Amino acid sequence: MAGFATMEETTGVLPTIRSYIKRGSRMTAAQETAINKYWNKYGLDPEKPIDLRAIFPDKKEVIVEIGSGMGEATSRLAMTFATSGYIAIEVHRAGIGALILRAEELGATNLRVIEADATVVIRDQFPDHSVDAFHIFFPDPWPKTKQRKRRIIQEPLLDLLAKKLKPSGRICIATDWLEYAKAIEKVFANDSRFKGGIVSRPEWRPLTKFESKGITKNHEVTDFHYTISR
Ligand SMILES: C[S@@+](CC[C@H](N)C(=O)[O-])C[C@H]1O[C@@H](n2cnc3c(N)ncnc32)[C@H](O)[C@@H]1O
Repeated sequence: MAGFATMEETTGVLPTIRSYIKRGSRMTAAQETAINKYWNKYGLDPEKPIDLRAIFPDKKEVIVEIGSGMGEATSRLAMTFATSGYIAIEVHRAGIGALILRAEELGATNLRVIEADATVVIRDQFPDHSVDAFHIFFPDPWPKTKQRKRRIIQEPLLDLLAKKLKPSGRICIATDWLEYAKAIEKVFANDSRFKGGIVSRPEWRPLTKFESKGITKNHEVTDFHYTISR
């Protein structure tokens, strides 16, 4: 029977995982003003190809952070990795606004932001083998058994990141959810393209309010570092 082709048949790409909750778009006046005032300086269009050479002509590498939240760690990381281009991708506009405010305060000139589902924009707009590192810090743990399929760190994401990383590119992850940490370790262990595993807390990863709160509740944080081998 003749039928319509599915998206996978037409584009050859897998559907993405819905790893976030689309909350309301409520923002503070300061966040809204920051977006309006500074969009040309920081914002990248998720509907257009990302030309990394044009965006960061003098940077030695490009780091992409998936799920930058309210930008507390991200703004500081952009400062720490000042010789790199740093792209933060987040679905929530309020988080993007908060990040721009922090970046302005710190003077992070190497930061760009994308308001989008990271898996979609990375899949569709980033050239293959173009990214030096992906950062994923405290991805939503989706703790209930029936929600686990919504976790972002699963095989389809590894396929995507493997395609977009430069040879010997890296992935840095942190989670404070022990059971997610075990699942992350397992999915990478089953993937021969990646080498690495659990590492001690990198001294460059900022301690945020969120992480400090977790530490006082005895949440154990696990850091991972993987490199791709081609
Ligand atoms: C638990 S928060 C952690 C935020 C931040 N990394 C931190 O350490 O504070 C996870 C963030 O990832 C974002 N997120 C989840 N899936 C995403 C996706 N597919 N694309 C972009 N952002 C995503 C969520 O909106 C949320 O802000």
